Amino acid sequence: MKIHVTDQDGGEHELEGLDGWRVMEVIRDWGLNIKAECGGAASCATCHVYVDEAWVSKLPAPSDDEEDLLYTAQDRRPNSRLSCQILLSDELDGLKVTLAEGARQD
Ligand code: FES
Repeated sequence: MKIHVTDQDGGEHELEGLDGWRVMEVIRDWGLNIKAECGGAASCATCHVYVDEAWVSKLPAPSDDEEDLLYTAQDRRPNSRLSCQILLSDELDGLKVTLAEGARQD
């Protein structure tokens, strides 16, 4: 399945991922600029992405932990999510996200 990712500089990427993978892992493994400091433990918010409006309602609601962390994220928007908390599935084939500035590696 594929996801579409816009990087912090406006570059567009179509990335292949597998069912059950975290969106963060797909972005990281394809070498895009994502810090993902905690490795997916929902404790850093450096995997922050903006979900394309057409996809927001297709994602499961964020957990309380994710919500709490997003409050601490720079440049939070209504469509902000932590990409390590989004698991790929057939329903999310074609998902579009944009990397937030706060996910950039130092
Ligand atoms: Fe740390 Fe997602 S990688 S919260």
